[in-house]
Amino acid sequence: MTAFWNKRVEKLRPPASGGKVLVVDDEASIREVVAEFLQGSGFEVSGVSNGVEALEKLKSDRFDVALIDLEMPHMRGTELLEKIHEFNGDLVSIMMTGFGTVETAIEAMKNGAFDYVLKPFKLEELEVTIRRGLSIRNLERENIHLKRTLSFYKISEASGSDVSLETLLQMILEAMQEEVDAAAVSLWLSEESGSFSRLSWKGKSLPWLEQTEAQLNLEAILGEVQRQEPILANGDFVGKYFKDLSPGRLSSFLALPVRVKNKVTGLAFVYSTDSQRQFTEGERKALALLVGHVSSGIEIARLYEDLKRTFNETIEGLCKALEAKDPYTRGHSERVSRYAGIVAKALGLPQEEVEKIRQAGLFHDIGKIGVKESSLNKPGSLTDEELLMFHEHPLKSKEILEPIHFLKDIVPMVYHHHEWHNGQGYPDKLKGEEIPLGARIISIADSYTVMTENRVYRKALTRQEAVEELRRCSGTQFDPKLVDLFIRELERLGRT
Ligand SMILES: [Fe+2]
Repeated sequence: MTAFWNKRVEKLRPPASGGKVLVVDDEASIREVVAEFLQGSGFEVSGVSNGVEALEKLKSDRFDVALIDLEMPHMRGTELLEKIHEFNGDLVSIMMTGFGTVETAIEAMKNGAFDYVLKPFKLEELEVTIRRGLSIRNLERENIHLKRTLSFYKISEASGSDVSLETLLQMILEAMQEEVDAAAVSLWLSEESGSFSRLSWKGKSLPWLEQTEAQLNLEAILGEVQRQEPILANGDFVGKYFKDLSPGRLSSFLALPVRVKNKVTGLAFVYSTDSQRQFTEGERKALALLVGHVSSGIEIARLYEDLKRTFNETIEGLCKALEAKDPYTRGHSERVSRYAGIVAKALGLPQEEVEKIRQAGLFHDIGKIGVKESSLNKPGSLTDEELLMFHEHPLKSKEILEPIHFLKDIVPMVYHHHEWHNGQGYPDKLKGEEIPLGARIISIADSYTVMTENRVYRKALTRQEAVEELRRCSGTQFDPKLVDLFIRELERLGRT
């Protein structure tokens, strides 16, 4: 005990609580002096004399700072630090050390201690170190909070818009992975049958880990998350949630329920494969909060997808019903859709765009539902009235599809599929690139398909003859670049 410890420091007493400090030192006099001084500075201080008591105290109460003596009997300060970090990575740990153990203290800093103070220390310096540690921790917390708020904001924005379920899930997984720096995260949703299946996965390229998900013990996981909090398992405890798992492959695992109206409708899984990285209690809470926040967004997006599917199936059904009336046109739209998809894909368009063009191909003649059946396939030429009615089918298609919000992008493709490259088509006499790309593609796919199908008034052309006809009309009726591409694709697929 130096004279220094006996020196009473007179100072003004700040009113507010500066935080909770635990002093872990086997020397009672140090605990007392430090406690008295820090209490005078507005901190709440407790003291314990060894590592075991410290662990008990830290597990039962929330502290902001731990001052840890490096040299203590039974459990050294470094060992205590390691144990604390297994369950609380947020605590500001400051090592107290003598000259002989400075290197050990520096080593402790590499393992997560914030700083060290050299005994005998000035109490004011100790306070400065504590305050610096707290302000850095608060900044880190603030930063995490901001990042989380940003993720929430982005996801909330997305769930309010008509973003696809797949995109929304990817955004959620990305936010989760970033939040805890996980090796991988995945989202499973329940199906009508009640079973769960994986919808989305994001993470490092670890094929074994993706396969490991097949071994998840969903029954045990569901049983647990329905009864209590989300699951956090570290080390050997991870194995409990898998039917089969080689020891040591996963160091940490989180399972979080997606709840809608108190029913578990999905599960989010988070994995760590790094033996040095185990998820903490704080991270379990943060991710539970995030998943809880997005649960209704996922459900809305899922309902929206269901609605979209039902709508599409209804319209597909309508198209099929329309074609089924005539054996000559049966399957026509599906063929147009297939060819349009081939061209769109060959153009290197994004998958979402290819899908839209494919769908437009499927619905392109939906407006014929308003054209008299007798005119659709009659032998011989159409009367003026019939011709006018026939020319109106793109407008009818537009009127049918336009009110359906999520089909808005395909309406122009359908409406303009009878425009000509040279501006001689209908309904708007658009020219060249004024015609939407999807409509130009469907025009070629439609014409080729019609030519290679039998009609009441003529026999089908051979594929070769149809290709020649496309070439002949390239630059007048059709976009020449697309004709070239279409023919190339037909050749590549062996369909000419
Ligand atoms: Fe048409």
